[in-house]
Amino acid sequence: MANFAKGLEGVVAAQTRMSYIDGEKGILEYVGIPIGELASHSTFEETVFLLWNLRLPRQAELDAFTKELRSRYELPAGVLQRLTALPKNAEPMHVMRTMVSSLALNDADPNNIELEQARKKALAMLASAPTLLAAFHRYRTGQPIVAPDTSLGLAENFLYMLNGKKPTPTMAKAMDVCLVLHTDHGLNNSTFAARVVVSTLSDMYSAITAAIGSLRGPLHGGANEGVMKMLNQIPNVDAAEKFVLDRLEKKDKIPGFGHRVYKAYDPRASHLKVLAKQLAADTGNTDLYEKSTRIEKTMESAVAAKGIYPNVDFYSATTYHCIGLPLDLFTPMFVIARIGGWAGHVVEQLADNRLFRPSVDYVGAHGVKYTPMNQR
Ligand code: ACO
Repeated sequence: MANFAKGLEGVVAAQTRMSYIDGEKGILEYVGIPIGELASHSTFEETVFLLWNLRLPRQAELDAFTKELRSRYELPAGVLQRLTALPKNAEPMHVMRTMVSSLALNDADPNNIELEQARKKALAMLASAPTLLAAFHRYRTGQPIVAPDTSLGLAENFLYMLNGKKPTPTMAKAMDVCLVLHTDHGLNNSTFAARVVVSTLSDMYSAITAAIGSLRGPLHGGANEGVMKMLNQIPNVDAAEKFVLDRLEKKDKIPGFGHRVYKAYDPRASHLKVLAKQLAADTGNTDLYEKSTRIEKTMESAVAAKGIYPNVDFYSATTYHCIGLPLDLFTPMFVIARIGGWAGHVVEQLADNRLFRPSVDYVGAHGVKYTPMNQR
C-alpha cells in the first residue's frame, strides 16, 4: 500500500498553533516562545493561558484565570468517596485515568463540546487532577487527606496537599518549572490519542481519559518511572557504565533516551539537567545525579551517532526524586502538566474538526473457504 509509515513516522496528521518542535536543531517553542524563556520567566498557570489563548495574558487576565482555576481545586461532592473506595494498592496512573474519567459523572452537561464549555471542563479537570493525586496518596498511606489551599499556585498547592506542609519556595518553583516543561509537545502519542477521540465529537472527558491511558506506556510518559527504577538498580556511579553497555548489548532500550522527533538534545532535558543538579546538591542526592551523568556519557559514546540523547524523562526522574515525589507519582505528575496541552489540542481539533479515520494495509489472506466447526 502506498504511503504506509510504521508508527506514522513523518506523517503530518494535524495543524497546531501551540507548540513547535525542530527535532534536528533541538528547538521547542510554545506559541513561538522558546521553552527556555518560559522555564526561566513564566509559571505553569501563565503557560496554560498562553497555550489556550495563543498569547501571554495581561496581569488582570492572569489573575482571573488563576482565580478560576483555584476555585476548582476542591473536588466536586462525592468524588472523594469514590476515590477512597479504590483499592489502596492501585497504580496511581490507573487511579488518575479512572478518577479523571469519573469527573464526567459530576458534570450535569458532560458531552457539551461548544468551545467555551470544553475549555471550562478542561480547566476543572486541570484543577482537580493534583487534588485527586495527592488525596489518593494520602489515603493509600493512611494519612488524613489535606484540603487544597486556594491561596497557593497549582504546583505549590499540590506539594502542600501531598505532604501536609508547604514546600520550600525552591521546591515549589522546581515543581512549577517541571510542569511548564511538560505542558505541551506537538502531536505526541497521548495528544494524538486525545485528538483522535474528540474527532468523533465525543467529549473532553473521554479525550483526556484516552490520553492518560496512552501516557502511562513505558515508551511515552511512563519512561520517567523506568529511569528511576534503572537508577535504583545501579548500585553506584562506577557501575553505571557497565550497566548501560550490558543492556545495549542485549538490545534493550535505555529509558529516558531517544525520541521520535528529536535527533539532537531535547531542550527540555537540558533545563531539567540543570535543575536536577541543583536539587541533587541541595538534597544530598549528588550520587543520583552523577549516576545519571555517567549513563548519559556512556550513551553518548555508544549511541549518540544514531541521534539518541536524553529526553524529557531522563533528568525529570532525579528532579522529581529530589522534590520528594514517590516513584509511582512521576508519571501522574506528567498527566497534570499535560492536561494543559491535551485540552488545548482538543479545542483546536474541535475548532476545525474532521474525523480521524486512516486506512489500514490488509496483509491477510483472501477468498478463504469457511470451515465447519467439526472439520477444524
Ligand atoms: N536506548 C537504546 N537504543 C535506542 C533507544 C534507547 N532509549 N531509543 C532508540 N534506540 C535505537 C533503537 O534501538 C534503534 O536502533 P537500530 O536502528 O540500530 O535498530 C534506533 O535507535 C531507532 O529507534 P526506534 O525505536 O525505531 O525509534 P522510535 O522513534 O520508534 O522510538 C522511542 C522512539 C519510543 C522514544 C524510543 O527512543 C524509546 O523506546 N526510548 C526509551 C523510552 C523513552 O524514554 N520514552 C520516552 C520518550 S519522551 C516522551 O514520550 C515523553
